[in-house]
Amino acid sequence: MTASISDNLLTWYDKHARDLPWRVPPGSAAPNDPAWPYRVWLSEVMLQQTTVAAVKPYFAKFTAIWPTVEALASASDEEVMSAWAGLGYYSRARNLLKCARAVAELGGFPDTETELRKLPGLGDYTAAAIAAIAFGRRAVVVDANVERVVARLFAIDEPLPKARKAIRAAADTITPDARSGDFAQAMMDLGSHVCTSRAPRCLLCPLAEACAGRKAGEPERLPVKPAK
Ligand code: ADE
Repeated sequence: MTASISDNLLTWYDKHARDLPWRVPPGSAAPNDPAWPYRVWLSEVMLQQTTVAAVKPYFAKFTAIWPTVEALASASDEEVMSAWAGLGYYSRARNLLKCARAVAELGGFPDTETELRKLPGLGDYTAAAIAAIAFGRRAVVVDANVERVVARLFAIDEPLPKARKAIRAAADTITPDARSGDFAQAMMDLGSHVCTSRAPRCLLCPLAEACAGRKAGEPERLPVKPAK
């Protein structure tokens, strides 16, 4: 039997995972530490609309000043806004504090996607990412990088945003039950380093054999941009 898409991807991730301050090494279980979901949540909020390189110093600063969600919840709006200065999209900082206070009130982060989704300012993507990465739960985690990988892998040539439904359904079919957090982050790494927007590096791709977009030619055409 040939290895599945998720097996191939996870084997690749075991070798090539980026070492990032909010990650555990590939194959490690999510730590049983209340600071862990906090760090995953904080990193995911910061990484929305901001690059990994720009996020790193802010992540270090925030976790040094506020090592737990309770500590952050007790900060003033001014302290948090001032620490966030330079990262941009300031509504994220306001939502961050609102969410931290709600989590502190609950006594910690809920550990399912459905309950996470109920927290203020926390969207579908972030709920799925935290459920998978922080709690090891199976969740279909689709950000813009993953969207591109999946659209190519399955040659989904409907234009965005209409294609999102098919992309999500296709992503669901390849999401494994085990190592869900590693799988999600492997897809992100693949999207940002290999299956790049303009010049996909198919020769380096662990999924090249399975990729319908590559077989059809011009994978860089996918996903199809919305008509102007
Ligand atoms: N972008 C959003 N979340 C990420 C993560 N956990 N690792 C790398 N890039 C990301």
